[in-house]
Amino acid sequence: MKILSIETSCDETGITIIEAKGGVKNASFKILGDSLASQIKIHAPYGGVYPALAKREHIKNLPILLKRTLKKAGLDKKKKPFDLIAVTYGPGLEPALWTGIVFAQELAKKCLPAGRQGKVPIMPVNHMEGHILSVFGKNKASPIGLRPRGEFKIPKVDFPILSLLVSGGHTELVLAKDWMKYEVIGETVDDAAGEAFDKVARMLGLPYPGGPEISKLAEQGRTLSLRSLVSATARARGIFQQKNIRADKTKNFSFTLPRPMMYAKNFNFSFSGLKTAVLYLIRDKHPDVLTNDGIKKVIALEFENAVVETLVHKTKKAIEKYEIKTLIVAGGVASNKHLRKEIKKSFGTKQKILFPEKKLSTDNAVMIGIVGYLQFMKNKGKVPNPSKIKAVGNLKLK
Ligand code: KG4
Ligand code: ZN
Repeated sequence: MKILSIETSCDETGITIIEAKGGVKNASFKILGDSLASQIKIHAPYGGVYPALAKREHIKNLPILLKRTLKKAGLDKKKKPFDLIAVTYGPGLEPALWTGIVFAQELAKKCLPAGRQGKVPIMPVNHMEGHILSVFGKNKASPIGLRPRGEFKIPKVDFPILSLLVSGGHTELVLAKDWMKYEVIGETVDDAAGEAFDKVARMLGLPYPGGPEISKLAEQGRTLSLRSLVSATARARGIFQQKNIRADKTKNFSFTLPRPMMYAKNFNFSFSGLKTAVLYLIRDKHPDVLTNDGIKKVIALEFENAVVETLVHKTKKAIEKYEIKTLIVAGGVASNKHLRKEIKKSFGTKQKILFPEKKLSTDNAVMIGIVGYLQFMKNKGKVPNPSKIKAVGNLKLK
C-alpha cells in the first residue's frame, strides 16, 4: 500500500511517500519520494524554536513539499493515489502539530486510492515511536525507473529493547518487552538533553541548533595536546582541577561540572542544573568566553562529557536491571559523535546497538510513515474518526 506521511511537530516540515507491504511481522518498505524543509535559519535569531513562526512556515511549506514529493515519486498530482495518510499528532508544539493534522484531514478528502471508495484513512502517529523505529529506516528515495535503492525490511530484533531517546524536546529511556508496546522508565525532570545543548551553545555565542556546534568545539578540545589543554584549563583556575587533568593521560577531563541525578535510584535525568552551572561558571570566572576560543573549547568539552556520561550511566543501569538485548539510541542528539563512541565502547557485547542513519536522527517523515504502516497493520486497519484527531503536545508513549 502507498502511504503519505507528514511530520510537523517542531521546526522541520517533512512529507514522504512510502510503499509498504508484509504486515507487522514481515514489514518491508520502499521510499518513493521524500522531502524535508528545515526552518533552522528562521528560528536561529531566537536561539530556539518560536512556535508562531513554526506554524506559519509549516502552513507555507506543506503544499510545496506535497507537490515536490509527488513529482519525485512519479505520481499523478491530481489523483493522489494513497491508501493511508500517517501524521504526527504529538508530542511537540501544538500549533505546529495542528498544521500537519489539518493538512492531512483536507488531503484525505481529495485522495483517490485505486479501486477504493470513500475517504483515505488517517493514522495518527506518536513522534517518539517514530524516533524509535527510525533506526530501521533508510532515507534514500528510489529513483524512478531504476532498481530501487530505498528498500528496507524490519529485521528480527531480540527483546527486551531499551530506547534512549534524546532530542531537543525529550530525554527518555523507553523499555519495550514486545513489539510496539512501550513503558517509559525514565525521563528528564526539567530540560531535555538537546535543549541543554542549545542553551549552553547560546551562552557560548554559538548559533542554533547548538548541539552540532558544541560537538564540533568539544571534538577540537578533545584533540588538543595535554599541554595546551592544561594551559587552557589553568586559565579556568578554580573550576577545573589541574591535578586530575595531569593524571588523566587519555586527555579527558576529570569533571567538575555536575552530573545531575547520576546516582539517584531511578532512571530520570535533569539537565537544568548543569546548564545553570555553565551560566555561573561564565558569569563568575569567564565573562570573556565569547572572545576566548580556548575557554570556549574547554567548556564545550566539559559540558559534552557531563551530558554523555550521565546518559551512558543511566542507560547502563537500565540495561543491567532489565537484561536488555537490543539498545536503540535515537533523536537529534543521537547524531552526537562522542555519545555514539561512548555507547559503542560501553555496550554491545551482550546486546545489539542500533542508531538511525544520520539523516533520520533528526525529525523526518520517513519514520512517521514506518510507524503509520505498522500501527495500521497492528490495528487491523482500524483508525480513528479523522475529524476527531487532535494535537497532543505532551503525548506519552505506551
Ligand atoms: O529530534 P530533533 O531533530 O528534534 C526534536 O524533536 O527536538 O532534535 C533536535 C535537537 C537539537 O536540540 C539539537 O541541538 C540536537 O538535537 N542535536 C545535537 C546534535 N545534532 C543535533 N546535539 C548534540 N550533538 C549533535 N551532534
Ligand atoms: Zn524529534
